[in-house]
Amino acid sequence: MKQYSEKKMNKTVYWAEKPGDQDTKVIRVVKEQESDSEMLSVCLREAARCLKQGGLVAFPTETVYGLGADALNETAAKRIYEAKGRPSDNPLIVHISAIEDMDKLAYVNDMAKALAQAFWPGPLTIILPKKECVPDGTTGGLGTVAIRMPSHPAALELIRQSGVYVAAPSANTSGRPSPTKASHVVEDMRGKIEYIVDGGAVGIGIESTIVDVSGEKPMILRPGFISKHMLEQIIGDVEIDPALSKPVDGMRPKAPGMKYTHYAPKGEMTLVEGDEGVRGQVIQQIKELAAEKQQEGFRVGIMAPKETISFYYGCADAVICVGDRNGQQTVAAGLYAALREFDNAEVDYIYAESFRGEELSDAIMNRLLKAAGHRVICVERGE
Ligand code: TXA
Ligand code: MG
Repeated sequence: MKQYSEKKMNKTVYWAEKPGDQDTKVIRVVKEQESDSEMLSVCLREAARCLKQGGLVAFPTETVYGLGADALNETAAKRIYEAKGRPSDNPLIVHISAIEDMDKLAYVNDMAKALAQAFWPGPLTIILPKKECVPDGTTGGLGTVAIRMPSHPAALELIRQSGVYVAAPSANTSGRPSPTKASHVVEDMRGKIEYIVDGGAVGIGIESTIVDVSGEKPMILRPGFISKHMLEQIIGDVEIDPALSKPVDGMRPKAPGMKYTHYAPKGEMTLVEGDEGVRGQVIQQIKELAAEKQQEGFRVGIMAPKETISFYYGCADAVICVGDRNGQQTVAAGLYAALREFDNAEVDYIYAESFRGEELSDAIMNRLLKAAGHRVICVERGE
């Protein structure tokens, strides 16, 4: 059907994809509105009302775009699973706009309080034993609930104004990379949800760190921008869910969502890694692998950082740059958009440089290894 029907000042209305689907309205929030609370409030009024009435609204957060619904309304939360095609045993994160709201949803302990004080609003999700008011439809039947207070001004204002707690998974179709721009959400959710709030490209680009403080020892269930070290500075020793490092038979990640082949591009992806001293050989290896597959008649993609991308031009059907090796925040910010570009270029195989090292590498490599189904080629010196 048609691309869009109506363009007002800040609003685009997309026609439903097929009869029976609904129109999706895109509300643009420009930078001046983000910093002017009154303008922001007016701009988000319709979307907030829609959330309150049980509708679905996608919105920007500092990590990735979320797909929101009233977390305490089981029917509304159920619609999220339908729109995403998500398995119903995979629980949702409940987003709040004030730290005090944590008490209304969960039995809060000292660790959770300290973490919330230190990192909220921000890219940290805290798992706690849930209170009665949180329905099974939101927690996938678990006795715990995941809570996060995002820092994006549009997210905070939308939640505040709606007057509800907002369950929001990443706003992608299940199995696709998380959306880091509103156009990604349009690709996946058009015709399935009422509103998309477009706040431009997100800042961080990978999902929040999840820390479970409901048990004896705090444990990271999903690495993110808030690192193990940052958490340990507030609450002492923190473990990392051992099932995250490599799939081992019989070992299941504790966050139900981490067991799925998330973040997977359509093409088969392989990471090629080697330390600084063998970077030239890594480049050579990637070029050879790409040439081999092209000769067999396949379409090939190559992903590399700014420092080495120019070596690959002309060597694949899609050569995509993902940030700057020396500024790993830029790699995180560009990763999911790059994976989506490979899908659009319809490549069969993708070869990517790897990003082990300092800073965000736990979080980045967790996503990259999953996208690559743990296919890694290590280049050793002299090979
Ligand atoms: O950055 C983020 O966290 C984004 C933005 C939108 O806030 N949201 C997000 O949600 O990544 P989602 O649904 O894509 O991922 C939530 C993860 C899943 O892996 C899920 O299994 C886990 O959190 N989770 C939710 N509740 C849980 C619980 N009670 N216990 C363990 N894991 C839980
Ligand atoms: Mg997700």
